Amino acid sequence: MAVQENMPSKGEASGAVERPPLHVAIVMDGNGRWAKRRGLPRTLGHRAGVEALKRIVEAAPDLGIRWLTVFGFSTENWSRPAAEVAELMALPKRYFETDLARLEREGVRVRVIGSRTGLSRDLVKICSEAEARTAGNDRFHLNVAFNYGGKADILDAARKFAEAVAAGRARPDDLTEALFDSQLATAASPPPDLIVRPSGEQRLSNFMLWQAAYAEFVFQDVLWPDYSAQHLAAAIAEFQTRDRRYGAVVPDDALAAG
Ligand code: IPE
Ligand code: MG
Repeated sequence: MAVQENMPSKGEASGAVERPPLHVAIVMDGNGRWAKRRGLPRTLGHRAGVEALKRIVEAAPDLGIRWLTVFGFSTENWSRPAAEVAELMALPKRYFETDLARLEREGVRVRVIGSRTGLSRDLVKICSEAEARTAGNDRFHLNVAFNYGGKADILDAARKFAEAVAAGRARPDDLTEALFDSQLATAASPPPDLIVRPSGEQRLSNFMLWQAAYAEFVFQDVLWPDYSAQHLAAAIAEFQTRDRRYGAVVPDDALAAG
């Protein structure tokens, strides 16, 4: 039976147990609570969160991951107090200042996905520099979702296609899933196999809405600044117990049913 032919090539059910998730996406959450528990200002929680990000980017390739997307700042985070927004805006600089040279050296390709609108010129420059300096890398891909929202991503893609139709460059029937994918901020990445959210919250919060269609979800009771390679390994172990069918049946059952 040709069931398997209809399935995505990555992570098909027959190989899921041995295979690591190629693309892991993480909602880095719990910085504020981590700080509060220590009687510290939230800003220090965000700084500790950057340290956790460094650890996880280091650990991910050894766990078989090739693509890592992290949610750093959402389109909704602008509604936080101005001082906290300012701290969050400073995080990419904090991260790239210390780690960009190493990322570059270790073959990591960095992409900052999300809208540049509303970001300072300085920040835009920092993000562009990180992308440019690592553009030739291919060993590991790091997407930093910053000023990113899943709905905005979908709207932008829809708008681009509508403009193409209005300009006579495309017809409504031309729109396929693949074409739509290619208009999203994540166009260069395969869809996430695994979406992880620490801190005990169990929701997507406008992260990769389209891309998450067949992702597995793992929620963990650890605050992001405490997140370690062991937590990531545990999330992957949980992922490997999942039976991914993409709406089909597993090939063995299909054969048994004749
Ligand atoms: C995640 O930590 C950081 C961002 C959203 C940018 P939070 O700031 O959401 O921490 P909690 O949820 O208040 O603990
Ligand atoms: Mg939060």
